[in-house]
Amino acid sequence: NYYAILMAGGVGSRFWPVSTQEFPKQFHDMLGTGDTLIQKTFKRLAHLIPKENIFILTNEIYNDLVLEQLPEVTQRQVVLEPAMRNTAPCILYASLKIQKENPDAVMIVAPSDHWIEDEVTFTKNVQQAFDFCSDNNALMTLGIQPTFPNTGYGYIEFDKDTTNNIKSVNQFREKPDYETAKSFIEQGNFLWNAGIFMWSVKTVVDAFKSNQPDLFALFENGISAYNTDLETEFIKENYPKAENISVDYAIMETSKNVFVIGAEFDWNDLGTWGSLYDKLGKDQNDNAVVNARTLVEDASGNMIRTKNNKIVVLDGINDYIIVDKEDVLLIYPKTKEQDIKKVLQKVKDKF
Ligand code: GDD
Ligand code: MG
Repeated sequence: NYYAILMAGGVGSRFWPVSTQEFPKQFHDMLGTGDTLIQKTFKRLAHLIPKENIFILTNEIYNDLVLEQLPEVTQRQVVLEPAMRNTAPCILYASLKIQKENPDAVMIVAPSDHWIEDEVTFTKNVQQAFDFCSDNNALMTLGIQPTFPNTGYGYIEFDKDTTNNIKSVNQFREKPDYETAKSFIEQGNFLWNAGIFMWSVKTVVDAFKSNQPDLFALFENGISAYNTDLETEFIKENYPKAENISVDYAIMETSKNVFVIGAEFDWNDLGTWGSLYDKLGKDQNDNAVVNARTLVEDASGNMIRTKNNKIVVLDGINDYIIVDKEDVLLIYPKTKEQDIKKVLQKVKDKF
């Protein structure tokens, strides 16, 4: 009864110029290991979940990329979105399809672009969550010990009195402002939301039904068409009508039956070049190098990646992102990595 939905529809614009709308980061070998991020994620989930029960949710423009990179996957498992509407619509749509196939399904929802190295402990924690969700009407998130007031994450306030690793949740707050995030961290009983969720298909469908009645009604209309030849037509017409909303705002913030399991493994959402730098091995000068040959004099803390294993010579350059592609060379301070999204817009406007 175990299922997975893998979210692979984001664009990853802060990883420009490697990640682009045509070829987003989940389809790249960002870590230089030989596997793309989506391939790594698929393998990680396949330890616990039958391969044929792993569904990939993505925009229709990435269909060929998915089938090419995951040859074990059949078209039945690729759930295509004709428009980008964030994570809530695609999770509800896929959940209704899975429920029609197997009403007793217990599932994990996972992004396709995260870094998790310790697969053994990951699998152990997901198994614990699955056991809990099989017996309880629980929306479970995976919690990460926070280290600073990151305003790009969801925060989970857990019940202090539970000693168990699975704790009931007092509140889920998506992307608080800096002051709020700071006070959450000071209080101690808050975790970051890893964006990885576990629940029974019945529980998540019920959560959408009560918290997002309009969204639910839209997709409920298609149930008779799901998993038949009529599905594509229904989705083409109706999916674009869905509200653009993330699962965090749509059901996690508003539901009462939220639980958290503390992750006992290291996690990183590989959101920026700097977070990738942190997770890569370094040379003796603390440079992270992927797919390049380097000659370094006085240069440290750089994130270097080239397209064709280029020779890169550096002297007097510290803490920079240095990334090339056929038609782009980016040299940008690591401290300003969040601005790459904005820079990309300016580049699009100018060229
Ligand atoms: N299929 C599909 N369709 N996937 C999508 C879409 C979509 O329209 N939009 C985003 N995704 C995928 C992204 O590729 C990513 O893997 C995942 O869904 C989460 O989307 P993000 O855009 O990266 O979310 P976020 O970083 O703002 O916030 C989420 O993740 C944080 C941890 O990384 C939230 O869940 C936060 O609460 C959480 O802390
Ligand atoms: Mg993210």
